[in-house]
Amino acid sequence: MILLALETSCDETSAAVIRDGAVLANVVASQIRLHAEYGGVVPELAAREHLRNLLPVARAALHQAGVRPADLEAVAATRGPGLPTALLVGLKAAQGLAGALGVPFLGIHHHEAHLYSPWISGEPPRADFDSLEPHVSLIVSGGHTMLVAVDAVGRHRVLGATLDDAAGECFDKTGKLLGLPYPAGPVIDQLAAEGQPRFDFPRPLLHEANDDFSFSGLKTSVRYYVRDHPALAGDGRALRDLCASVQAAIVDTLVGKTLKAAERLDRRCLTASGGVTCNRALRERLTRECAARGLHLRLAPPTLCTDNAAMIGLLAEWQLRHGTSADSLDADIAPAWELGAQRRE
Ligand code: KG4
Ligand code: ZN
Repeated sequence: MILLALETSCDETSAAVIRDGAVLANVVASQIRLHAEYGGVVPELAAREHLRNLLPVARAALHQAGVRPADLEAVAATRGPGLPTALLVGLKAAQGLAGALGVPFLGIHHHEAHLYSPWISGEPPRADFDSLEPHVSLIVSGGHTMLVAVDAVGRHRVLGATLDDAAGECFDKTGKLLGLPYPAGPVIDQLAAEGQPRFDFPRPLLHEANDDFSFSGLKTSVRYYVRDHPALAGDGRALRDLCASVQAAIVDTLVGKTLKAAERLDRRCLTASGGVTCNRALRERLTRECAARGLHLRLAPPTLCTDNAAMIGLLAEWQLRHGTSADSLDADIAPAWELGAQRRE
């Protein structure tokens, strides 16, 4: 099956062409520079930028894949969760194209696509969904942090989630306090590699008997630290050590809680996905801890950790091939769609 997928849920405009479980093209136009000026994503600007970029991005993906619109056998788009006006751009374009071509349309859950992205590998990337084993999955992005128990593709249960800030948001907000550009996650990753984690920041909820996260207290601790140490500005060494310390607190918490959930549920496999899974310290720590315990670890490929249409398309194509019925061409966006909740029309 040849399928075109569109992703416009936040600040990346992406289109991917999928054929029989493989990615033929995955084009991503990031809006990071546009939003950096404001220190975060501005929804109205994001939607306008998606409108500007969607057709060129979709044309580029089709061109790279050597596929004509008439060859498409299905069209998919992210239906939610995400920014309402941003979601509308991709969803309505996909429905219009599917209607014009007379092919099925499928609306995909953004986090469900992240959830299965660790089961994509190779070059060109292929879906290894058939080799999926029961596991505990950590989804860590700028908007969400959650632990999910997965039994099979489409059979999953949310164990816990963040009560306030997401892990990526914590990287970005503490980075802002330290005067770093948005998004600060990749910058902290770089600076932390040259620093020592000598400052002790809280590991929120690490020892609580639940699978939830909370990162706003950590951000507040950094705010007080910066307020009480004005000499910090201009001290490169202290900045690198602070970045290493913030990163260590986030990584300890994410890894500790994921391992605890896996142990409690007696799962021998762990996965991680979402933008923060690009973080090298998180990848290294998960790799080390899983090796020490004989656990199987699957990490989403770094290029597919941040938002992309390839993960949307691979899941949509798999669902269509496994009997999921198409969605209505009138199906509405689902900006607050919870993972695991049914939302079919
Ligand atoms: O999944 P994503 O592209 O967008 C959302 O759905 O939110 O994730 C973006 C988030 C941002 O908060 C960014 O700072 C974080 O992922 N991020 C990182 C790294 N690369 C991206 N955080 C820590 N270390 C990184 N290397
Ligand atoms: Zn995402």
